[in-house]
Amino acid sequence: MADAMPRTSVEPLSTVRPPGTIQLRDFRPPDIPRVSEIVAEALREHYEPSLYTSLSQSWPGGFLVAVDGSGTPQGFLLGVAQVPREARVLMFAVDAAHRTSGIGTLLMNTFLERCRERGLDRVTLEVRVGNATAIRFYTRFGYSVTDLLRGYYSDGENGYQMARPV
Ligand SMILES: CC(C)(COP(=O)(O)OP(=O)(O)OC[C@H]1O[C@@H](n2cnc3c(N)ncnc32)[C@H](O)[C@@H]1OP(=O)(O)O)[C@@H](O)C(=O)NCCC(=O)NCCS
Repeated sequence: MADAMPRTSVEPLSTVRPPGTIQLRDFRPPDIPRVSEIVAEALREHYEPSLYTSLSQSWPGGFLVAVDGSGTPQGFLLGVAQVPREARVLMFAVDAAHRTSGIGTLLMNTFLERCRERGLDRVTLEVRVGNATAIRFYTRFGYSVTDLLRGYYSDGENGYQMARPV
């Protein structure tokens, strides 16, 4: 009986849907300028453009981009699978004007599906201890803190490592 089955995978916010014009697709190199813009604003980081291409190569399906009706990226999630059976979210951000409309949820749910398809067991990520919005988001998604990373960020802020089973 379905009601008696243990709930093995509960995704939060499953009823939250971003505007119908938002579509997810794999990253493409022409996305780099817009992705860099989102990274600069949302994550306050600047990376060499070639970093995005090289990180996408080992697992193209782990780098998801949310594009609007005109094809412009408004959010992305860059995950890598460099440790056996484990994924790591390296970057995750949505354009400020497009937040709280479900794009982050769509990106994370789709990324977790991709992890399942790849047969991975666990996802890890790092987050600034002061980033309450992201910590709340990840906690709703079943991530929990596994480590305190002292002085992890270039400006000296501590980080949390968080993880969840796939
Ligand atoms: C973290 C982040 C990616 C989330 O993206 P998002 O698109 O805003 O995510 P969602 O819209 O799916 O959900 C965000 C919140 O809005 C709420 N929400 C979503 N759709 C909503 C709607 N239509 N109406 C009201 N609230 C809504 C969700 O309930 C969720 O609440 P929670 O955070 O308390 O769980 C985004 O805040 C971001 O880019 N932050 C800056 C960069 C950053 O910190 N990245 C993480 C670094 S580790």
